[in-house]
Amino acid sequence: MRQKNGVLVTGGAGYIGSHVVKQLGEMGERLVVLDNFSTGFREAVLYGDLIEGDTGDTALVSRILRDYEVDAILHFAAHTIVPESVSNPLKYYGNNTCKTRNLLQCAAEAGVRHFIFSSTAAVYGIPEGPFATESSPNAPINPYGTSKLMSEWMLRDLSAASNLRHVILRYFNVAGSDPAGHIGQSTQNATLLIKVAAEVAVGKREKLLVFGTDYPTPDGTGVRDYIHVSDLADAHVRALEYLRNGGESVTLNAGYGHGYSVREVIDTVNKVNGRPIAVEEQPRRAGDPPQLVAAVGKIHETLGWMPRFDDLEFIVRTSIDWEKRLLEKPWGA
Ligand SMILES: NC(=O)c1ccc[n+]([C@@H]2O[C@H](COP(=O)([O-])OP(=O)(O)OC[C@H]3O[C@@H](n4cnc5c(N)ncnc54)[C@H](O)[C@@H]3O)[C@@H](O)[C@H]2O)c1
Repeated sequence: MRQKNGVLVTGGAGYIGSHVVKQLGEMGERLVVLDNFSTGFREAVLYGDLIEGDTGDTALVSRILRDYEVDAILHFAAHTIVPESVSNPLKYYGNNTCKTRNLLQCAAEAGVRHFIFSSTAAVYGIPEGPFATESSPNAPINPYGTSKLMSEWMLRDLSAASNLRHVILRYFNVAGSDPAGHIGQSTQNATLLIKVAAEVAVGKREKLLVFGTDYPTPDGTGVRDYIHVSDLADAHVRALEYLRNGGESVTLNAGYGHGYSVREVIDTVNKVNGRPIAVEEQPRRAGDPPQLVAAVGKIHETLGWMPRFDDLEFIVRTSIDWEKRLLEKPWGA
């Protein structure tokens, strides 16, 4: 019997999923993208068949898994805005947790063998030390993080009870855009620092709000581990290869293992931009840890993954270049 080799990418029209689709497409993988366009864009999908639909639609998902002979699912589809998850938690449990359960049910029924899940450093909440390792306690402090952690647990339990094997990637702060400039982060009303700073740099926003300047960090602002989206995409490619080579189910941090403060990011944006952006300092925001950096030994060892774009200036440059491109030709217009 012929081996199934189709790859389903849910949320492949979104920021991170579209960068993964690009890399897998360039390698000649048989791709099908399922996206409901709640935050994604048709223009972002450069390879594969694009199906408009929802991960909660059991009949549709089952049909796709059968028609495309899917043997691997990369599951990006989710809502991702932390403050919104606080004000509207059921939206997050519904889309991120319940619909992931639905997808897993379809995957189990179709005999899908490989599953790669987009999780988040938010499952750690506020870690005790500066580094979060994969065995640090799970203590999410918002419904977004909890909705993702519950999905991790379902996946873990299903893998234990079936032939499914999985890689859970816990992303830290994803930033930057495709170095070739074909696709990029186009999220509306973004809340992540580098994207927002790049929007200020090109005049799309008036100013950048900095939350907290009195943290116990070298310059008083929060420190985060920023990973370029193309390096993260490469980690997915390697995770797929790992599973196909018989790798065991595993949970891995995806970051660079060192951090930058908000002020360092702003300085870099100013340098790349050639002039300073407007900044307004605000008090600390509830629930923001002073420092959140990934321990990365496990991902290097397990996947043989090594970053290529571990350079803040490069990350910022690709972000600002993409904002300029969006100004000329907006997506979803
Ligand atoms: N951006 C980050 O820094 C970051 C950090 C940690 C984890 N993540 C995770 O990575 C994944 C991708 O995030 P992103 O930043 O690319 O977000 P995004 O909003 O750009 O992408 C999500 C995509 O999923 C689609 N979608 C949402 N719900 C769907 C559903 N029920 N059915 C079909 N399509 C649906 C959206 O239209 C969008 O295209 C998410 O699971 C997110 O939780 C992101």
